[in-house]
Amino acid sequence: MTDDGIELRDDSDADRSPNDRPREPDPELTPEQVVEAQTSAIRNADREGDPTGSSDPQRAQDRILRTLFAFAAPAFRRRHGDFEGVAAAMTNPIYRPLVAAETVERGPIDVDGDRAVQKVLARPEDGRDRTYEFVLERQSTGEHEGCWLIAAIDMVYVGESPAFQRRPTVEFDGRAITCEEGATLRDVLLRAEGRSPYNDVSQVANCGGNGLCGTCAVEVCGDVDDPSERERRRLELPPHSGDDDLRLSCRTTVQGDVSVVKHDGVFGQHVADGSAPSDEEDDR
Ligand code: FES
Repeated sequence: MTDDGIELRDDSDADRSPNDRPREPDPELTPEQVVEAQTSAIRNADREGDPTGSSDPQRAQDRILRTLFAFAAPAFRRRHGDFEGVAAAMTNPIYRPLVAAETVERGPIDVDGDRAVQKVLARPEDGRDRTYEFVLERQSTGEHEGCWLIAAIDMVYVGESPAFQRRPTVEFDGRAITCEEGATLRDVLLRAEGRSPYNDVSQVANCGGNGLCGTCAVEVCGDVDDPSERERRRLELPPHSGDDDLRLSCRTTVQGDVSVVKHDGVFGQHVADGSAPSDEEDDR
């Protein structure tokens, strides 16, 4: 931490690309991260790099199924067999809407000891939504001891289940990130694959979310809490002006669906097209 309250930090999560999502079981992964790995694979199937350079939909589907197979619990594999067996099961009419979903939303996760259940709403192109339940179990023995793996995926409702509790969605630069109500916006944006609430040098030189440096400023439209007096005061300091509709993402909590724009300045301030921030601004 410098005298100005700026600390050097490693925002490695901020640079996560779709290719960086978890591929293998790991005892460090929470059950929600395991489900997120699946929904991320579904959302990003078309965008993920293919070593062959192909954009073949069949290959995109294979990438989804391989992620699922990698996290399948032994009981799941016993039920469906090898990869071909799992692939056949997951592309039948029950699971096809999930694998081919245009968008997927995760509801809150219910963790009880070594078992966890999370509802997932799949929205395929044809508009015929389906609600699934991912059942996960923490492994007590074997190769993946300590890891959360998928024991079952059940379709529980044709359409959006009345029991599905929608979580706020944060739209950010082409990403849709679901989060808990009350989540700090900065934390949510840092989870956006390949995106960040910071620009340039502030990726590594910022105050770590303490509301001091002003570099996490973003334009927010939607349901968030009101700014505190302290946040208002920070946003009145140059290069911010206090009246440019910005919020400090580290001081903002998500209350409902929001969309976020990060402007180009080092501090996330508006910068006119074609003009770079002045040296004076950069020095602040
Ligand atoms: S991270 Fe420094 S003000 Fe938000």
